[in-house]
Amino acid sequence: MSAKPAKRFLKALRQEKLDRPPFWLMRQAGRYLPEYRQTRADAGSFLDLCYNPSLAEEVTLQPLRRYDMDAAILFADILLIPDALGQPLAYKEGEGPVLDPVRSAKELSKLTFDNLHNRLNPVYETVNRLSGSIPSHCSLIGFAGAPWTVATYMVEGRGSKDYVETKKWAYSDPEGFDQLIELLVQATIEYLIKQIEAGAEAVQIFDTWAGVLPDDKFERWVTQPTAKIVTAIRAKYPDFPVIGFPKGVGGNLLEFVEKTGVTAVSLDTSVSLDWAAREIQPIVTVQGNLDPILLVAGGDAMVSRIHHILRKFSGGSHIFNLGHGIIPQTPPENVELLAKIVQDWKNG
Ligand code: CP3
Repeated sequence: MSAKPAKRFLKALRQEKLDRPPFWLMRQAGRYLPEYRQTRADAGSFLDLCYNPSLAEEVTLQPLRRYDMDAAILFADILLIPDALGQPLAYKEGEGPVLDPVRSAKELSKLTFDNLHNRLNPVYETVNRLSGSIPSHCSLIGFAGAPWTVATYMVEGRGSKDYVETKKWAYSDPEGFDQLIELLVQATIEYLIKQIEAGAEAVQIFDTWAGVLPDDKFERWVTQPTAKIVTAIRAKYPDFPVIGFPKGVGGNLLEFVEKTGVTAVSLDTSVSLDWAAREIQPIVTVQGNLDPILLVAGGDAMVSRIHHILRKFSGGSHIFNLGHGIIPQTPPENVELLAKIVQDWKNG
């Protein structure tokens, strides 16, 4: 049996020494690309795009054709899980996602696993197609939202700034709220395992709103649920690479890394490079953390910061990425320059 060609992204996740870090960008497929806007218009709605394997495959491949990233991320959304559990979801123009809120343990009876895989089947089909269509040096990343972040959308019914409804439920009825988190842990485990069976070579768990919890609740609703997901994946696929992204959690990142067993951690823009190189990089691969707004600004500010990040993480395992997703105002030529800088880089 001949081994597959070694992929740079997977090597970085195994903490192998590399001449330059692999790179990909969160939200690398999206509205900053004219070809994405075209395919999105052809699809009709955002959800029609997510649930159409041929179009979802197409938009996943679009950024790779331009920039030759080392990894492709499945095109989907973290809110497909509530949708597939029976909480109808719509993306309203200029408003973002809207759901009919679930606000108590009693209301959990509205959610069911009965149609979960049936509804998500097109996503597994997209992964399956991509595993055959991405370039051979490129790795395929599957993903899901973390239970806490997905729960905030399910409870608020939309994006939020203060998470009042979610926290009110969580603080006043923690056991009831645990039931929602546990349901999401189980759905996420099943969803990610199906993506792995379909060909995903790594998975990332997005916990965008992890940073709004106090530290005892961080442990209960971020660290423990993520640890359960990692453990369940590894029970089936030992050593399978899982990237965590608990955004905005400051020093709690160390506890997250130690207790969840993730292979790598994605750093948001606020994380100190020196601190991460000293405290986190010896334990797991770090990913990140260019400010996505520097990709809008471009110029010397962007170029010098890219060099700085590359230098600071050159002593250990690093996957170059942003601290959060690319925003629609990003000029595609700035992404091209970023790609060139990282591809030309040589670790000293
Ligand atoms: O990274 C990628 O290229 C893969 C695709 C991906 C999308 N969403 C596509 C998308 C991924 C990994 C996500 C994750 C996601 N979705 C998160 C976690 C990461 C993060 O960015 O914080 C969250 C919180 C969501 C929920 C979500 N989806 C919101 C709040 C919105 C509306 C705001 C916005 O940016 O439009 C979406 C829509 C969405 N998801 C778009 C894309 C490309 C834009 C929809 C469009 O085309 O109109």
